[in-house]
Amino acid sequence: QKGGYPHFMLKEIHEQPTAFHNTVSPRIVDGLPNFACDKICDEDLRRFERVVVVACGTAMHSGYVGQYLIERLARLPVTVEIASEFRYKNPILNRDKDLVIIVSQSGETADTLAALRLAKKQGVFVLGIVNVVGSSIAREADAVIYTWAGPEIAVASTKAYTVQISVMYLLAIKFAMLRGFADEAFAREYTSNLMSVEEHIAEILKDSQSFQFYASKLQNAHDLFYLGRGLDYALAMEGSLKLKEITYIHSEAYAAGELKHGPISLIVDGTPVIALGTQKSLFEKMASNIKEVKSRGACVFLICDDTCENTAQIADFVIKLPALPEIFMPLLSVAPLQLLAYYTSILRGCDVDKPRNLAKSVTVE
Ligand code: M6R
Repeated sequence: QKGGYPHFMLKEIHEQPTAFHNTVSPRIVDGLPNFACDKICDEDLRRFERVVVVACGTAMHSGYVGQYLIERLARLPVTVEIASEFRYKNPILNRDKDLVIIVSQSGETADTLAALRLAKKQGVFVLGIVNVVGSSIAREADAVIYTWAGPEIAVASTKAYTVQISVMYLLAIKFAMLRGFADEAFAREYTSNLMSVEEHIAEILKDSQSFQFYASKLQNAHDLFYLGRGLDYALAMEGSLKLKEITYIHSEAYAAGELKHGPISLIVDGTPVIALGTQKSLFEKMASNIKEVKSRGACVFLICDDTCENTAQIADFVIKLPALPEIFMPLLSVAPLQLLAYYTSILRGCDVDKPRNLAKSVTVE
């Protein structure tokens, strides 16, 4: 059942290239994103002037990636809402102009389902991004884009996140074309970059040894910080959640520019900091944030692409990834974050597939 892996989580991490392929390739026709297999045509998407992503946990984190992508490529405003907050705040929605995207692996999360029902009651078009076929959210949404990750058994979501963000890339490119921010050549180039990701993820997953080594440096930590800017901040949130849920180490994700506004007081000698520096255009700013924490004694693990130079001068440990245009780097940096969490959990003797107090699907409030 675990396909030769010791845990479902590790199996599911390794299934990511296939999950990515199964989700993305049916939606690329003639080198461009196409949602015909989901019965969604361009006319269905053209009228929207705002996107509201509603979800919980990891699924919500995929919404933050979607926010950066859709806003950057298509200049379409996106807000991301925690489902349990959204459902009780009497949200402002516009039935003619808003698209509500509900993201859920299980399709059964109680708060997310309630948010869907609320949006539908207000007459807003609801698009579900769902992994489980025939689940409540899939049945009740106006349209569904299924992610084809296959069953996800481990409580910690891994491959489901990767396919959720893959769909966000497809939507962002599609919206960019529909709104006139990408011509066909540009969209083709982005789509082909997206397709190239699969082999890079597979390559990254071959190196489990270095992650075991990095995990050995994290296993006794009490507090851990994840820092990033732009898309790296969205990934920092996901990395931090993954680590805390399966290792029980307290961890926080911060937008690196926020450090000076409070959290830097928590950095003491030896505090591990996972610094995401995959966004080339923001690297200089990130490097200066890293220097700030280093000078307070932090032990810095830097995740960056393999063209970054002089990294040994600013970080204690450097995890280098293949260099792609920065917008695609989240698809590569997520696996290292998952592996760090996984191996740290193993070294701490935690029940990695079934962490304490957690259920795979939160079907009650
Ligand atoms: O099934 P859903 O995607 O709706 O679940 C949402 C969250 O409960 C889920 O992503 C949770 O945060 C994961 N355990 C995180 O790894």
